[in-house]
Amino acid sequence: MTTVVLTREDTVKGPLRLVNSDYSISDYPKAEALTAAMEDFPCILLENQAAKMLRQLLCAIQANGRIVPVSGYRTHAEQIEIWNTTLLKEGPDFTGKYVALPGHSEHETGLAIDLARSAPSIDFIRPEFPRIGICQSFRSLAPKFGFIERYCGGKEAITHIGAEPWHFRYVGFPHALIITEKHMALEEYISFLQQASAPDEPFHYEIEHNLMEIYYLPMDVRETWEVTFPCDYPHTLSGTNTGAVVLCRWRNYYE
Ligand code: DAL
Ligand code: ZN
Repeated sequence: MTTVVLTREDTVKGPLRLVNSDYSISDYPKAEALTAAMEDFPCILLENQAAKMLRQLLCAIQANGRIVPVSGYRTHAEQIEIWNTTLLKEGPDFTGKYVALPGHSEHETGLAIDLARSAPSIDFIRPEFPRIGICQSFRSLAPKFGFIERYCGGKEAITHIGAEPWHFRYVGFPHALIITEKHMALEEYISFLQQASAPDEPFHYEIEHNLMEIYYLPMDVRETWEVTFPCDYPHTLSGTNTGAVVLCRWRNYYE
């Protein structure tokens, strides 16, 4: 028998948390939780695990400087500045389409990165990240490393953001793979888990001889929740920022 203890604080932390026009950020990252997204760009920061996985992904595709970071972690003040500057320059329609309201931007969590194909001049708000060459190699492999293309065309009515082929969001493994396979927006994935799993009946996902058990656990009015399991398997936890925690346990068939 093993027990996982969840607290209310867990609901707002972690890589799977939903940040959008409906759900604002309640847990801003601390400086020690951030790292340079890429070695050659010390001023563009990401949450530590997201940065580590981004570097591994760039190494796996041998990007060798052909992909550059444009914008990673933004402080709340920076997001306000970007919103105000874009509003003055481009007007409200464009701003609402391509800039999240301060307090509602994934960039303020350190879990999002805008990328560009390396070029002499790069647009800060809408960088070029085409569906060919090294950029497409990145996009194809991204889910294996925990990243999703967050704002896909066709999902605007759900995300309330225009298509942004340059904006990648770290959600972690195996969630990025499932989201991409199911062509879901993050909003849809969280609703899907809520419907497809119960505290005593997880959603099952098989990958490379591993059986993953994914539980959506609504905290409701609880301050803590002790969830017990018959066996002790490795697990990850992330809040959804919608009042729940997603617990993922996995076991290898051959162990
Ligand atoms: N460009 C995205 C939506 C942001 O500002 O967070
Ligand atoms: Zn972005």
